[in-house]
Amino acid sequence: MQKDIIIKIKKLKKEFTDNGAPLVIFENTDLEIRHGEKIAIVGASGSGKSTLLSLLAGLDKPTEGEIFVKDIQINNLSEKELSDYRNREVSIIFQSFELISPFTAYENIRAPLDIRGNISDIEIKSTANNLLEEVGLSGRKDSFPSTLSGGEKQRVAIARALASNTDIILADEPTGSLDRKTGEMVFDLLLKEVSKLSKTLIVITHDMSIAEKMDRIIELKDKNLQEKTSV
Ligand SMILES: Nc1ncnc2c1ncn2[C@@H]1O[C@H](COP(=O)(O)OP(=O)(O)O)[C@@H](O)[C@H]1O
Ligand SMILES: [Mg+2]
Repeated sequence: MQKDIIIKIKKLKKEFTDNGAPLVIFENTDLEIRHGEKIAIVGASGSGKSTLLSLLAGLDKPTEGEIFVKDIQINNLSEKELSDYRNREVSIIFQSFELISPFTAYENIRAPLDIRGNISDIEIKSTANNLLEEVGLSGRKDSFPSTLSGGEKQRVAIARALASNTDIILADEPTGSLDRKTGEMVFDLLLKEVSKLSKTLIVITHDMSIAEKMDRIIELKDKNLQEKTSV
């Protein structure tokens, strides 16, 4: 694969079965994303945006076609390999935060490093504490998710994604549960961190003011991905 390309989708077909009838989401779809690019994915509700992220995250498999991430052809991986891939290469930020409710903010942030198993406790502690500070939540270290506001929860989720230190961050409507002002602040924080660390970011959003902050806007339409504008 070309050196500056991090994600390459070739002739993707994705089909679900809906009440016995085939439901085609992607048909003969190609996409290339470069290292460090920031991409917005837009499209009507039900067009398949979340499905695309699931495919890239290795949570679902294409019906046909190939998905390469770096030099890994993820559509061919075994379950064990996929689990390693998910742990090392991608982190996901969800609209509904998906924090672990019996864990504190700090414990949520360190969780992805705890499951890796090969990192010292000292290193994990310092990473988690630095990230709490980075997202402005040092004072809420020992707070449980149920006591945090939506914006604070999403900042914890961002810190958790950064703790994973994956090259790719996927975000599915990360501001969808937040009011406009909070959403913008949280998104700007995500963008600042992602730019600083040169990560590749793929964000699903309905909010054009967010989409326009990205390098490219790609629209999911007619079972395909189309470049909407280059900004
Ligand atoms: N596991 C599944 N089985 C059957 N249909 C599914 C499944 N996942 C998603 N779909 C359907 O595929 C379409 C695209 O879903 P989704 O990717 O969630 O859309 P979006 O995120 O763009 O709103 C929807 O019609 C949805 O109902
Ligand atoms: Mg969706």
